[in-house]
Amino acid sequence: METLSTAQVLSDDATYIAAYQHIAELPLAIKSAHGSYLVDAAGKEYLDFTSGACTMCMGYDRPECGEFGSFPFPYAVGIPQVEYAKALAKHFPSAGEAIKVAFGVCGSEAIDGAIKLCRAFTKRKKIVTFHGDYHGTTFGAVSLTTLPGRISDKFDPLLPEVHVLPFCDETASDDDIDNCLLELAYLDYESIAGFIIEPIQGDMGMLPMHQKLMQAIYGIAKTWGIAFVVDEVQMAFGRTGPFFSIENYDGIVPDAIVMGKTIGGGIPLSAIIGKANFMDSLGPCEHAFSMAGTAEACARGLSLLKSMESPEFASGLAERSSLLYQSLYALQERHPAVVESISGIGYAFALWLKSNQSAFDENEAAKRVIARCFEKGLYLMRLGANWLRIEPQLNISISDLKKGITILDQALTDLEAGRLN
Ligand SMILES: Cc1ncc(COP(=O)(O)O)c(C=O)c1O
Repeated sequence: METLSTAQVLSDDATYIAAYQHIAELPLAIKSAHGSYLVDAAGKEYLDFTSGACTMCMGYDRPECGEFGSFPFPYAVGIPQVEYAKALAKHFPSAGEAIKVAFGVCGSEAIDGAIKLCRAFTKRKKIVTFHGDYHGTTFGAVSLTTLPGRISDKFDPLLPEVHVLPFCDETASDDDIDNCLLELAYLDYESIAGFIIEPIQGDMGMLPMHQKLMQAIYGIAKTWGIAFVVDEVQMAFGRTGPFFSIENYDGIVPDAIVMGKTIGGGIPLSAIIGKANFMDSLGPCEHAFSMAGTAEACARGLSLLKSMESPEFASGLAERSSLLYQSLYALQERHPAVVESISGIGYAFALWLKSNQSAFDENEAAKRVIARCFEKGLYLMRLGANWLRIEPQLNISISDLKKGITILDQALTDLEAGRLN
């Protein structure tokens, strides 16, 4: 990491980190931490009599788990966090606007933050979301979730002032899209704080929102001062081709993007990244968490991001995406009796399976194929009743990609031949 002065880090923090992220009353820019000590940008050590606000009660480092002394973010400015925010901001699809980031602990919590931001920014209440979206399991996020099987009346009442519109994917008929646009037209725009959209509905079977619907929502948001927020917890980091999935839709600059999953390089982290005026509509600690944006998660995430920024990675990903796309469509051609449809984009696909056997219910097809793949050493998941989820690692080797496709091919052959009964 380059050597930065405390003044530079504090200034970068003010530029790139949203006001609500933390309360940092002292001019401290933490570079690292060990035992009971925090180390600032210049290498000065401070004995910490708060145990990092009781987050690190047995000292900052666990040498047996690696050299990194992690430290939490809410109460001070940290260099790994600010550096990661700066690097992420470069990927925001902005038209030259000032961008800020706030880190969190998981995707669901970040969606809650987005709800608060929409309401604070517009001083309105209603949040509009789309049928089939999955946004998570905290109270706010689950209130916006209509993915079948993920909502329950056990914990009613959910958040008030949430309106769910029909979703149209890219294969929607003209009638369906007209119906979606009509429902959109009936809304009372002056009462809406924000649209929170999952542009590619992952858990519904990798369904990209129809271009017309997305552009219509964006146009209304711009005209009526409604916040436009996209949930990229699953699709950011190039999963659909461009860095953010919303970049598959021309000319759209969201007010904010919600990120999670991959962002921490394997340990808990999430973020909301957005236009500075939107991000600063919440004040200090109005959506802050003790363990939000730990140094370790940000350092891991930054190293992952850097490895993705090389031209070799981009060209390799394009090659793997096209191989995956072609292989899946070839599977459908080889097994038309059992692969009913393919949906998805970039490197996020789902196959809708059916059975040509009367021996078991059609909805068993995906389960049985998954079980056969599992026996052969390929791990897959089911989405909905019968979607096979296909989202391999972005950096998987070509040989492993082909190996997985071959196993899947064998399992589909077995399904077709009635050998999975
Ligand atoms: C699109 C989307 N949003 C939100 C979430 C919730 O994220 P987390 O599980 O980190 O709370 C998920 C998780 O699967 C997701 O796919």
